[in-house]
Amino acid sequence: MPSTVTEHDAAFNRNAWDTLATTRAGQESVLYWHFRDAPGPGVELLGPLAGATVAELGCGNGGHLAHIARHGVARGIGNDVSPVRLHQAVTQQAAQERLEWWLGDAIRITPHLPRLDAAFSVFGGLWFADPHQLLPALRQRLKPSGRLVFSCMTRAPGAPEGRRQMVVYTPATGRVPVVRWMYSIQGWLRILTEHGYRVDKVDQSDDPRNQRVRSTVFVAHIPQ
Ligand SMILES: C[S@@+](CC[C@H](N)C(=O)[O-])C[C@H]1O[C@@H](n2cnc3c(N)ncnc32)[C@H](O)[C@@H]1O
Repeated sequence: MPSTVTEHDAAFNRNAWDTLATTRAGQESVLYWHFRDAPGPGVELLGPLAGATVAELGCGNGGHLAHIARHGVARGIGNDVSPVRLHQAVTQQAAQERLEWWLGDAIRITPHLPRLDAAFSVFGGLWFADPHQLLPALRQRLKPSGRLVFSCMTRAPGAPEGRRQMVVYTPATGRVPVVRWMYSIQGWLRILTEHGYRVDKVDQSDDPRNQRVRSTVFVAHIPQ
């Protein structure tokens, strides 16, 4: 039985994504940082990748990490809390050498990661796990100048900040509740700065479907 809010949320989201996994089986050939596939920034946000050690938190079927691995990554670690989603990654990305798949809550596994040149999350661990725990843990694993890039929806004006239970709907599964962390852009900038990250770029898509959900990409690094 989970005994803390963090353990509860990880178990809650694991069950949600085990259920939702059936609706997310496809492979990605292009990295879209934003919520709805639309032209936008690509792998360049992660900086130089040749020989890099990179981790993705909340990797789902691993399509994004597999895409990034083609840019010369030396070691790529994909993490997900959902065994069903991680099984998709293991089987769908089996042809990719230099990739590893780590099962568990991003907050729990991050202290065990090797030193990283870059970490990233596409509507993944940085959105679903408590950033006040995850960001400091990740900071310890990122090398000086190491990059953190993540995308998430940002909160609607007037909506409360922080931990929120929300619903993901698909026709196949119906309404599936998840826990995620919602902040305004200013809120994310404050939290990132508090935990020692320097923010280089905030990208908001000009695609109307992405604007409607306030899809946002944050690019930050650890100062030397
Ligand atoms: C919206 S999906 C995005 C998956 C993938 N990044 C993509 O773009 O296809 C969110 C993913 O985050 C994972 N997740 C949720 N909470 C997590 C946690 N605490 N630690 C690691 N992964 C988590 C879910 O299992 C799910 O695969």
